[in-house]
Amino acid sequence: MHYYIITGASSGLGIETARLLLRPDQHVVSISRTSPISLVRQAEQTGGLFTHIGQDLSKTDELPGCIDRLMEVIAKSSVQPTSVCLIHNAANAAPFKHLDRHTLDEISASLNLNLLSPVLFSSLWIKRVQPLHVPKKLIFISSGSAEYPMAGMSLYCSAKAGLNMLVRCLHMEQRGLPYGVQVAAVDPGMMDTPMQTAAREAREEQFPSSAFFRQSRDNGLLRTPESVAHLLVQWMSDPASWSEGKRDTIHKL
Ligand SMILES: NC(=O)c1ccc[n+]([C@@H]2O[C@H](COP(=O)([O-])OP(=O)(O)OC[C@H]3O[C@@H](n4cnc5c(N)ncnc54)[C@H](OP(=O)(O)O)[C@@H]3O)[C@@H](O)[C@H]2O)c1
Repeated sequence: MHYYIITGASSGLGIETARLLLRPDQHVVSISRTSPISLVRQAEQTGGLFTHIGQDLSKTDELPGCIDRLMEVIAKSSVQPTSVCLIHNAANAAPFKHLDRHTLDEISASLNLNLLSPVLFSSLWIKRVQPLHVPKKLIFISSGSAEYPMAGMSLYCSAKAGLNMLVRCLHMEQRGLPYGVQVAAVDPGMMDTPMQTAAREAREEQFPSSAFFRQSRDNGLLRTPESVAHLLVQWMSDPASWSEGKRDTIHKL
């Protein structure tokens, strides 16, 4: 049984990726605040296994309990895992405004979700899957925002840049270990998802770059999350093609 754990599989790229991975020999575990009901139905119809763990990932003190629930799902299964793959996909770029206009709570919530949670979760997960003698993958959904700064998105851009560096360090720590974790980051490119809608609809006086997001949509530069999910699944299945420890870009594949 191949296990795919996807954070943020209730929307956008996450739900479309989960849809493609729901196959009879695969167990998809989603982690987000909302339960993706359509995936529950799809699993019933296709024979794939699906489990949802309800968790607000910005509540970082709850992450050890969340990992316990995840590992219970794997331990309770009658079929031993043949591989495990964790995809850090959940993120939120909002609220879009200059740093000095954020409340301290907004800053903490943003950095908790977009940076601290994937760091803590990865640390806990690597420890817990260490005894499993199966292939392991740890994938971070990155963004062009990790490299291209934008006024009004300082927290999101900084978090994504931090994750890119985490990937490079983790790769150095894990390579060469017996059953070490294969670590990679991938930039999916611009997709028409609720995250893009929020950027387009942000108030222009707080976020002048909202015009850029509207133009990108109007100029047909956004891909569908379905098409990107296909590329992501293809890319994930072939680690030989990864720039391991670096950031790959789906839109260049
Ligand atoms: N869209 C783009 O153009 C674009 C471009 C480059 C990179 N990316 C990256 O691609 C990934 C997917 O983005 P998307 O566009 O598909 O976003 P999306 O449609 O807005 O989905 C975001 C997902 O994150 C989850 N999430 C948000 N806050 C959460 C929280 N506090 N706790 C748990 N889960 C939370 C949401 O689930 P709940 O609300 O149910 O919790 C949802 O499933 C992200 O990492 C994003 O940075 C997107």
